[in-house]
Amino acid sequence: MSTAVLFDRYGTPDELYRADVPVPSPGPGEVVVRYTAIGVNPIDWKLLRGDLRTHVPLGLPGGCLGVEAAGVVVDVGAGVRRFRVGDPVIRHGRPGTYRVHEVVPASQEADELTAWPARFSAEQAAVLPVAAGTAYSALRQVGLRAGERLLVHGASGGVGLAAVQLALLTGAAEVIGTASARHHELLRRLGAVPVEYGDGLPERLAGLGPFDASVDCAGGPGPAEAALRLVADPGRRVTIVADPEVQRRGVPYLDHVPLELAATLDLIGHSPFELRVTARFPLSRAAEALRLGQRGGVGGKIVLLPEE
Ligand SMILES: NC(=O)c1ccc[n+]([C@@H]2O[C@H](COP(=O)([O-])OP(=O)(O)OC[C@H]3O[C@@H](n4cnc5c(N)ncnc54)[C@H](OP(=O)(O)O)[C@@H]3O)[C@@H](O)[C@H]2O)c1
Repeated sequence: MSTAVLFDRYGTPDELYRADVPVPSPGPGEVVVRYTAIGVNPIDWKLLRGDLRTHVPLGLPGGCLGVEAAGVVVDVGAGVRRFRVGDPVIRHGRPGTYRVHEVVPASQEADELTAWPARFSAEQAAVLPVAAGTAYSALRQVGLRAGERLLVHGASGGVGLAAVQLALLTGAAEVIGTASARHHELLRRLGAVPVEYGDGLPERLAGLGPFDASVDCAGGPGPAEAALRLVADPGRRVTIVADPEVQRRGVPYLDHVPLELAATLDLIGHSPFELRVTARFPLSRAAEALRLGQRGGVGGKIVLLPEE
């Protein structure tokens, strides 16, 4: 038998329960992956609350959260040429990774599996898609080039920390990142200039601007106002937070389907790029992981580790 964490109706993390499920078999063109580590993201609790129910169907009852994980192929269906048993892979995209074993379509077109580069640990590999993949897409959307100055709001979060590092790998001359004071030393270590968010943010940033481009990973009026004042070209501002008011005021939403994980991994190459994993929970305690993520202040990524 295998294990999955499921839920039957939209609500709070209290809805999640651990279920014993059979180890699945792959159909033609599919593989079974056994996960070693699973990423936890804000989209998980947004999906659980039902915020995205019209866009992302979850198949309730028996819905499963989780949009990223790293693991090893343990079974291969007929016709699969891309992967073999034993291959380490990263799974990304469609929700459903809060489980130990999963059947995943293996074709290039399905775009749910990417080879797991050996230089990353399981925890690192599991959290690359959302953090690094989204950051990469955001930097592409604003067209960041070497020598430019970038403003990142929410720079201490999963996507923000990735955006800071990818921007510097792209050759940005300077990256200014807004974050709470407790994360400023971390941002300095990564090579960014930290600025505290909250009241007066646009004024605090004014002395540091203008900027060539901005990436908003925080949302809300303060970050939007700063981007509007300090980045002249609307096409060089982006927000990854679905806030219609921010978009209405002139900060375009990220337009990035599909995730360009292979290109992201190419940019990272053998650089010291790192995602901080700051909290780990056994898979069966996924509800606690979600509550911690919702409270915030983690200063990095949360992962679930299968117990079996
Ligand atoms: N569109 C997409 O495809 C996409 C993809 C990924 C994520 N997202 C969304 O993007 C947001 C960030 O995701 P994440 O995974 O990076 O979240 P996260 O790891 O939870 O990080 C959120 C960060 O925001 C910071 N923050 C909170 N309020 C802020 C403010 N007013 N100004 C500046 N920073 C502030 C926090 O900083 P401190 O801890 O320093 O207080 C925290 O580090 C979430 O809403 C998520 O749903 C969208």
